[in-house]
Amino acid sequence: MKNNRITQLFGIEYPIIQAGMIWCSGWELASAVSNAGGLGIIGAGSMYPEILREHIRKCKLATKKPFAVNVPLLYPNIEEIMTIIQEEDVKIVFTSAGNPKTWTGILKAKGIVVVHVISNSKFAKKSEEAGVDAIVAEGFEAGGHNGREETTTLVLIPMIRKASDLPLIAAGGIGDGTAMLAAFALGAEGVQMGTRFVATVESSAHENFKQKIISTVEGDTKLSLKQLTPVRLIRNKFFEEIEAAELRGASVEELKTLLGRARAKKGMFEGDLEQGELEIGQISSLLVKSNLQVMLSERFGRNSSGQSQNLPLLIFPDSGILLPEKLMYF
Ligand SMILES: Cc1cc2nc3c(=O)[nH]c(=O)nc-3n(C[C@H](O)[C@H](O)[C@H](O)COP(=O)(O)O)c2cc1C
Repeated sequence: MKNNRITQLFGIEYPIIQAGMIWCSGWELASAVSNAGGLGIIGAGSMYPEILREHIRKCKLATKKPFAVNVPLLYPNIEEIMTIIQEEDVKIVFTSAGNPKTWTGILKAKGIVVVHVISNSKFAKKSEEAGVDAIVAEGFEAGGHNGREETTTLVLIPMIRKASDLPLIAAGGIGDGTAMLAAFALGAEGVQMGTRFVATVESSAHENFKQKIISTVEGDTKLSLKQLTPVRLIRNKFFEEIEAAELRGASVEELKTLLGRARAKKGMFEGDLEQGELEIGQISSLLVKSNLQVMLSERFGRNSSGQSQNLPLLIFPDSGILLPEKLMYF
């Protein structure tokens, strides 16, 4: 597992990446994952520029290991965000939700490693042309915003592997080591997990949301708002209102009005489980409380040479056959 293109690109021990997530992945989560030998990502999408600066500075104090910032490219304050990233000397940026052409060259000229998130082969090619260092291919199972094509991870990864030779990170529906192995078998060289990390202690999500995630069962999440930007949500009152509006043929404008502002903050950060937007992936129904709500940092022991060794154990909690030394083969 060590020394593949992803670990080398980021300078990390394990090709396990904690996704950048609005309202959930601040400096505490990102630094805990980085300290554990994976790559932690600060999600800039819900942060005002100066808040992002604060998170970057705190993350640097909390870890000496590499970490990244995720920037959805449709962000309204994008210029300011990118300036802060450069001023604060962030070394790795994951861009998403937009055209990779706009920022990749500028960031790379400053020596920043750039990774772009895609959900189809067309954007894999565009990312390659833009000069990104790696791509994240995110399938239909994923939490948060989602591709219109609805291609599942199982189909998407080999498809992208064929379309591009770039280092490839799989995302969507990966919550433990068995799924990680499957992703590697399909051609991925790293995994990005979002849902898996939302209910951890270090996540900044509201406690109500964390409890809700753990209690979800099969079928509790569904893709919503396909006419605006498709997003996978937990079914709640807000979800049902949108669904009813879509069924009666509501226009895009009506849907926008119904969505209003700050729905995601209301649900995921303020804990309003009825009226808030609750973004989470299908894998939430497989997550088990005992493995989740533990301080990540407490779980990560160090071996005699000071390397953290328990990140694989965290995601392979029950897999005797997949102990860290076995992971060396991947
Ligand atoms: C609560 C939540 C918020 C998310 N926010 C973002 C975001 O701000 N930017 C982004 O690129 N992806 C975002 N995502 C998608 C993740 O980065 C990641 O690709 C996805 O969660 C992977 O699928 P999984 O949820 O099945 O692990 C979000 C996902 C979740 C669950």
